[in-house]
Amino acid sequence: MRHLLDTQTLSRADAIQILDVAEDMADTQLREVRKLPTLRGKTVVNLFFEDSTRTRISFEAAAKRLSADVINFSAKGSSVSKGESLQDTAQTLQAMGADAVVIRHGASGAPRTLASSGWITAGVVNAGDGTHEHPTQALLDAFTMRKRRFGADSRGRDLDGMRVTIVGDVLHSRVARSNVWLLATLGAEVTLVAPPTLVPQDVSLWPATILYNLDEAIERRPDALMMLRIQLERMNAAYFPTEREYSRRWGLDPLRLEALGSDSIVMHPGPMNRGLEISAAAADSARSTVLEQVTHGVSVRMAVLYLLLSGSEHEANTAPNGVP
Ligand code: CP
Repeated sequence: MRHLLDTQTLSRADAIQILDVAEDMADTQLREVRKLPTLRGKTVVNLFFEDSTRTRISFEAAAKRLSADVINFSAKGSSVSKGESLQDTAQTLQAMGADAVVIRHGASGAPRTLASSGWITAGVVNAGDGTHEHPTQALLDAFTMRKRRFGADSRGRDLDGMRVTIVGDVLHSRVARSNVWLLATLGAEVTLVAPPTLVPQDVSLWPATILYNLDEAIERRPDALMMLRIQLERMNAAYFPTEREYSRRWGLDPLRLEALGSDSIVMHPGPMNRGLEISAAAADSARSTVLEQVTHGVSVRMAVLYLLLSGSEHEANTAPNGVP
C-alpha cells in the first residue's frame, strides 16, 4: 500500500488485510508488548491543519508503538499563519526526513493533492479532509463492529448482512462518507437517517438507503446505530433546525435507547455533543462502543503505518515483521 486516501477506492482485500493486521497489533497490546521494533528508523509526520484529539494522538501512539520517530505539526502557531503553502510546508517536513505524512486538512482533496503532486515522496495517510473522507475512522469502526460480531474469530471476516444505521449531520460528515463506502465494500447494509437539509445532494449515488425518521429506523432494529457529531462549526443557520428540535427528532435519548434492540451497539466517532445528538445515558451505556472505538483506533493506525512503511508485502496468515 503506497497511500491511504479514501475508502471509496479501497478494495475488499486491502480492507480485510488492514483489519487483520490490526488484529495482530491488538494482540500485541493485549500481551502488553508495548513496543515493536518494526518501524525503527522511520519518521512519521502528523500534519494537522484542523483540530483533533483522537486521530492525532492515536497516530502518534501507533507510530511510537512501532518504534518510529514522530514529528507533530499543527498549523496553529506555525508559518502557515504567515501564508506558507501546503507545498512548502510539506516539502519542509520531507526535508527533515518524513517517510509517512498523516494529514488532516479543511480542504476536501488535500491528501490526494499531496500524494499525487510529486512534491514529496513520503506515503500519505488521510486523517480527515474537509467533508470528504476519514478512512482510518471508518476502518476502526469496521474493526469494532467485526470484533463485536466475531470476537476472537474475526480474522478474514467481512460484515456481510450486518445492518448499520448512521444518524445525523451526514452533509458535513467525512466519517459518514468513509463508513458508507467501506461498509458497503464489506457487505453491510447501510441506512442513513438525517434531516432533509443535512443530506448531501449526491446521496442517491451512495450505496445506502435514506430515511428521515429516526424512530422508524430504530424500529428496524439495526445491529449498529452510529450517531454523528453535529458539526456546528460548518453549519449554516439557514438549514439547521434548532438544537432543541434536532435533539427531539434525531437525538438518541434514553427512550430511543430503550427501543433499540438489546443486541444493538451504539457508536459515535467523537467528539460528542452530549445532550444534542446523543444523551449521556446512551453515550455511557453498556451498549456504547465509544471508548472501544478509540482503543481500536490505535491498532488500526498501527496496521496502516505498518503496511505503508514496512517495505514488504504482508502475506496473509502471517504476523507482521517484528510482531512476536
Ligand atoms: N473522530 C475523530 O476524528 O476525532 P478527532 O477530531 O478528535 O480526531
